[in-house]
Amino acid sequence: MVALNSKSKVAVFISGRGSNLKALIKNSKLKKSKYKISLVLSNKSNAKGLNFAKKNRIKNYIIEKKLSSFENRALRLIKINNIKIICLAGFMRILSSNFIKKAKIPILNIHPSLLPKLKGLNTHERAINAKHKFSGCTVHYVNEKLDSGKIIAQKKIRILKSDNPRSLAMKVLRLEHKTYAEALEKII
Ligand code: GRF
Repeated sequence: MVALNSKSKVAVFISGRGSNLKALIKNSKLKKSKYKISLVLSNKSNAKGLNFAKKNRIKNYIIEKKLSSFENRALRLIKINNIKIICLAGFMRILSSNFIKKAKIPILNIHPSLLPKLKGLNTHERAINAKHKFSGCTVHYVNEKLDSGKIIAQKKIRILKSDNPRSLAMKVLRLEHKTYAEALEKII
């Protein structure tokens, strides 16, 4: 059994809605969970996800600065707070290789497609336009190349004829919430 104080400290970087952050927080409250969300950083002051951090009394910071300043501040906060893993959850900036090197801890990301298919943005629209039969989500390690790091977990769902980008996004998002927590527990 994992004692409370031995739970791995996780930082989550967000830019918006924060539904994945919410799901990660919820999962972390389970007795069997091996991690604790100790820090939330947002590069946007209006990110709705900040409310989940506040409600759960998790330290949170808004850093609305150019990338290098964001990264320097983030590195300091990660060190001070003894963070062991970073999870990107709807974080809309591409971290530099310098940051990835200096952080020296695993950085995870969730992407709403079956990587390596459909890297980048607007995945649902592109999946439907390309008439893909399946979509899904992928949790992967972050490296210098966009959406290209080693895959930790992936789940798929069928795309129905009746699906549009919005309905598909909703279905994939529900899947993301499960997959991210599972992937995080798996690597600890
Ligand atoms: C998710 O679809 C995630 O896969 C992508 O951005 C979206 C973030 O949603 N990277 P939320 O902010 O976690 O609700």
